[in-house]
Amino acid sequence: MITPLPLQFSVDELSPFVSSDEVSVHYDVYTTNYFSLVNNAILGTKYQEYSMDDLLKDRQLQHSDSHLYRLINQAHNHDILWQSISPISKTGEPSTNVQSLIRHSFGSTESMARNIIDHADQLFGSGWIWLVLAHNQLHVVTTPNSAAPFDGVAVWACDLWEHAFVHDVQYINEQRSKYVENMTKLINWNYVNKVCESNGN
Ligand SMILES: [Fe+2]
Repeated sequence: MITPLPLQFSVDELSPFVSSDEVSVHYDVYTTNYFSLVNNAILGTKYQEYSMDDLLKDRQLQHSDSHLYRLINQAHNHDILWQSISPISKTGEPSTNVQSLIRHSFGSTESMARNIIDHADQLFGSGWIWLVLAHNQLHVVTTPNSAAPFDGVAVWACDLWEHAFVHDVQYINEQRSKYVENMTKLINWNYVNKVCESNGN
């Protein structure tokens, strides 16, 4: 049985960038539901005692390209999402190493945010946008549906499924880029620093 990582902040703390209604529904309903769907699917199978890491690394599941593996990815993507954003007063700052990664990869934090928003605009339909550490650089990567980045380590995730922003933008799809812009302000640098450091940066 797998459970979502606990939310590190209260649901109203991302306001005004993401509303408390949006965070509540996204975490308590959607995130929890992905984990329940995985747990229901693995109940009574050899996978029921597996950890999230074990499930993600299982070659049989990986190669099956199954509905179950997509659900596992989707659950795990949400774990990364909720760890990699934080209330604006608690984001911290990029470490010296991460600052130089950003400079080397994008020129500046502002240009990185612009890059993220532009890439998100190019993703048709549901998916994810990521900051990924690979080959000692940070990259902006989009993935469709529940896919996770193929290469490197995700240091920040932004959910581009409609459920992630629909309460705040009220079905006006053009405003998805505003939601993405807001999310770039909530990058949890403390988390990014930690992941980069544990991966040699
Ligand atoms: Fe989501």
